[in-house]
Amino acid sequence: MKALIIYFSGTGNTEYVGRRIKEELEHRKIEATLHSIEKDTLPEMNQYDYLFVGAPKYYEYPVIPIFDYLKKKLPIADKEIPVFAFVTEASTSKTSFSEMKTILKQKNGRLTTAKTYSIANNLLIFDIIKPTDEDNKRKNLNILEHLLDKDITEFLRGEITIEDPGFFGRAMGKASGHAFTKIFPLFFMRYSADKKECIKCEKCARECPVDNIQMKDGYPVFGKKCLCCTRCINQCPTNAVLYNKKHKVQYSKLNA
Ligand SMILES: Cc1cc2nc3c(=O)[nH]c(=O)nc-3n(C[C@H](O)[C@H](O)[C@H](O)COP(=O)(O)O)c2cc1C
Repeated sequence: MKALIIYFSGTGNTEYVGRRIKEELEHRKIEATLHSIEKDTLPEMNQYDYLFVGAPKYYEYPVIPIFDYLKKKLPIADKEIPVFAFVTEASTSKTSFSEMKTILKQKNGRLTTAKTYSIANNLLIFDIIKPTDEDNKRKNLNILEHLLDKDITEFLRGEITIEDPGFFGRAMGKASGHAFTKIFPLFFMRYSADKKECIKCEKCARECPVDNIQMKDGYPVFGKKCLCCTRCINQCPTNAVLYNKKHKVQYSKLNA
């Protein structure tokens, strides 16, 4: 049996969960492939028996590029494939997977499992939003281990366990996810480079998932289509990407 794990991850949390799922599946003798939506190649859907789809939660909704990928790039499978969707987040709220379910159906994917995993907060550009402390992060990772074991077992048994935040949560999540993804960069696009620290390596421009960074005279210039994933801040080798002209904490990536 073969499984494909498609994901987007701005700063590593979702990728971490994807890797843990891969290990859990391989432990159960299921061959698993991780596939970032930033890869140029498209997966050959018909060789897979199971599909996993992972995304971080932005503005109380799965990050919008995952929907764009599923709609525009994911090939239609010849046979129906059971799908396990997961979202990683900072808080502990349920997620609406209705829109994802509809899109997956158009690709012959049948959503049977949909779960949210609380990991840690990576949104560290605003002083009022605090990082998740190490104790809570560790606790979340321990809980994740139990949940993954249970959720994957139930998924492979064919059980239907789709999380639902209720009518209000569904409506608000969809509205805020789509609206804030468009509005947020217009008001909060306040990135710049510290020219004294920048070593002109261009890593920020290369790593930006939405190609929002152009180099000018060797320094990054930030455009208006920012996803606000904060990867540019996190990946910079000298922490030279500023927000509001200030240096920010680089969210430490989870290493398995
Ligand atoms: C722009 C932005 C918006 C976010 N919105 C939420 C949110 O609404 N609820 C939440 O619990 N976490 C939110 N977060 C935190 C992320 O969902 C969380 O840290 C996630 O695990 C990051 O995954 P990644 O490292 O794979 O990108 C947000 C993070 C960013 C960057």
